[in-house]
Amino acid sequence: MLLTEIDHVAIAVNDLEAAIAYYRDTFGAEVDHREVVESDGVEEALLKVADSYVQLLTPTRPDSPVAKFLERRGEGLHHVGYRVDDCAAALEAVKAQGGRVIDEQPRPGSRGTTVAFIHPKTAFGTLIELVQE
Ligand code: CO
Repeated sequence: MLLTEIDHVAIAVNDLEAAIAYYRDTFGAEVDHREVVESDGVEEALLKVADSYVQLLTPTRPDSPVAKFLERRGEGLHHVGYRVDDCAAALEAVKAQGGRVIDEQPRPGSRGTTVAFIHPKTAFGTLIELVQE
């Protein structure tokens, strides 16, 4: 089994502050980590839920993939991040099964992680992120 834990569930939102306030006021959830990932054109806020996170995600510029997602689909579930021990090995396993990938090689993610995205087309409609801590 290559997946060791759900790392995060990422939700695309238009207004990050409003979404953070919603999770705080409704569920008492506090922001554990906040980061702008300039290479992806996103700002994220991570809310810890047990050993996993809810990741609220908003675009920092109009050409960001998340901006395009919000235009097309509106707010909502964007991707699921699965924790893996070895991102490169898991990515190779996906490719070996004929899966379409977005990242041909693992790359740096937020929080100092190593990540790779798998295309939803061959993953039953879900954008999957492999996350190695
Ligand atoms: Co993610």
